[in-house]
Amino acid sequence: MSRVVVVGSINIDLVVAAGHLPRPGETVVGGTFARHLGGKGANQAVAAARAGASVLMIGAVGSDADGDESVAALRAEGIDVSGIRRVQAPTGVAIIAVAPDGENQIVVASGANSLLSADDASLTNVPVGPGVMITCLEVPTAAVVAAVVAAARIGMQAVVNPAPARALPPEVLASGAILTPSAEELLAMTGTHDIDAGVSSLIAAGARAVVVTLGADGALLAHDTRRTSIPGREVAVIDTTGAGDTFSGVLAAWLANGHELGDAAAAATCAAGLSVTRAGARDGMPSRSAIAEALRA
Ligand code: RIB
Repeated sequence: MSRVVVVGSINIDLVVAAGHLPRPGETVVGGTFARHLGGKGANQAVAAARAGASVLMIGAVGSDADGDESVAALRAEGIDVSGIRRVQAPTGVAIIAVAPDGENQIVVASGANSLLSADDASLTNVPVGPGVMITCLEVPTAAVVAAVVAAARIGMQAVVNPAPARALPPEVLASGAILTPSAEELLAMTGTHDIDAGVSSLIAAGARAVVVTLGADGALLAHDTRRTSIPGREVAVIDTTGAGDTFSGVLAAWLANGHELGDAAAAATCAAGLSVTRAGARDGMPSRSAIAEALRA
């Protein structure tokens, strides 16, 4: 079976569905509250597992009830949780506001995620050979670099989801990773105002490809000098939280299963579209058969 290793964050999401997103200094009343499982890394692991990959999660949670619940939920998805370390810090928490159009605002108390080390991420217990390693920027840069370097050493394709956006170290860019920024993240990390200039600069720096997620407009796949638009789906949007994680997780699962990058990007775009039709980061994440059926429709 296809092998995906996720090096990433694990959070509990405290979510208020509000009439609108607050401006700085504003208090918005009248919303409804829900608690969900989240964290970009854990969400990506769940998306990849539901898409049919054999998944190992590497991360850090606290020795607390939130950590117990987070690990149990990943195990229930069939994910190997042996790479999750218990640390002396609270499990990460994300405070999320969701607007009626599904847009969100997120602030994260990283807690245990900030203690994930380069050593944790060095893939020492992962067998050498094919597969995909996926990581995000909700864990320390040292862990991201270690994971990307280790993936190259053992022959896994790295997928780096640069979220939340920050400049990537040159060794990450030079590693031949596939990058999956949103349009906003691409512009923030490259300092340009132009998507094509942004992806071109990342490819020139050594990225194998860049797949830019564009929300309802689908995605743009940039590979060498080629640019391919992948159309989005018309869906009733409830909550966009986790759509980018669904995209990256499904892309990784499809690649690990031997699909070409273009097919993997199409499946990921389709899955991300399906994921926004339910509340919470994970409730709308589709199974492999649901993705295949939607791709045929
Ligand atoms: O990408 C969505 C995720 O970002 C949420 O689950 C939240 O935990 C934050 O990390």
